[in-house]
Amino acid sequence: NAAVLRDGRGREVSYLRLSVTDRCNLSCLYCRPRDSITFIPHERILRYEELLDLVGLACDMGISKVRLTGGEPFARRDFMTFVASIRTRFPQVDLRITTNATLLEGKPAALAALGVTAVNISLDSLDREKFTSITGLDRLDNVRRALDECLKAGLRVKLNAVALRGINSEEIGDFVALAQAAPIDVRFIEFMPMGDGNLWRPENYISARDVLALASRFATLVPDDHDRAAGGPARMHRIEGGAGRFGVISPLSEHFCDSCNRLRITADGKLRTCLFSDREYRLRPILRNPGLGLEKVRQIITMALRTKPLGYEVLNPGGTSKSRDMSAIGG
Ligand code: GTP
Ligand code: 5AD
Repeated sequence: NAAVLRDGRGREVSYLRLSVTDRCNLSCLYCRPRDSITFIPHERILRYEELLDLVGLACDMGISKVRLTGGEPFARRDFMTFVASIRTRFPQVDLRITTNATLLEGKPAALAALGVTAVNISLDSLDREKFTSITGLDRLDNVRRALDECLKAGLRVKLNAVALRGINSEEIGDFVALAQAAPIDVRFIEFMPMGDGNLWRPENYISARDVLALASRFATLVPDDHDRAAGGPARMHRIEGGAGRFGVISPLSEHFCDSCNRLRITADGKLRTCLFSDREYRLRPILRNPGLGLEKVRQIITMALRTKPLGYEVLNPGGTSKSRDMSAIGG
């Protein structure tokens, strides 16, 4: 398919992030408030059939890479069957998953067989007690086993850690060691103020630059920039003498909006053209209206892309996305 999708600023849009559920079995301290967790009711969540139609439309319009996110995607019933049906219907699509890996054990071999390109695992601590205090659940051992299974199955693995000063900043050496020992891309992500911003703490923020400085104490890092060139958000480094890489994602200190190539669809079927902008376009009622359907969705995507924002222009100091926590957008 030779279609190319462009936004109003000429950016090529080739990457769709599809959130399949807002539910998550964890409640990480930076992502979701622990006390007031409300979930979107079932009937407002897009059905797998609807998601498949959207993937088909997106591919037809020029999307070549689809990332399935959550909440936690594996928390949705029959998620593996859904992955298999995407593969069957759209064999050409570059299919990736972002997961906390707590429910992943036993599945990596099947994912590899389905040709999933990469699994991005959110893992903020390698210390069991710290993991439990960050996430609210004692599941580090499950994640470590799932990670090993991914490597055994030959899946490409990226580890995402939200950089939290005073929480996991002391563990940067351990993460470097992990990437040294195995072919894993470890990425520290700058802590972003999402939702109403009340989970964000200035004292926990640490810039990408400081993370790299700390990491450099443990290994020699050699810049390896091809991901950035390919539109990825991470600035990666080879680790001299190591199997994997170490890098940072710096949405705050050094944004990458000029090369943003993404669209997002939330679990309740709203199109977002920017992580940081609350402008959303409701696709679900259109999909479910027999008189409108996919052709109308196509028009909305085209129209929405004309005004896809430059995130740094809409980012306001107190917070970014006012209406939704990260868990409801899918990262
Ligand atoms: P690949 O490059 O395909 O591996 O994926 P990715 O890094 O885009 O996806 P992943 O789900 O692993 O996201 C990593 C982190 O980057 C998350 O914290 C995302 O919220 C953040 N991120 C992803 N896309 C954007 C974006 O468009 N803008 C900003 N500011 N952050 C983003
Ligand atoms: N800041 C930065 N990264 C975040 N993530 C979730 N919330 C935040 C935040 N406030 C990360 C998750 C996951 C990715 C999709 O987004 O840890 O790895």
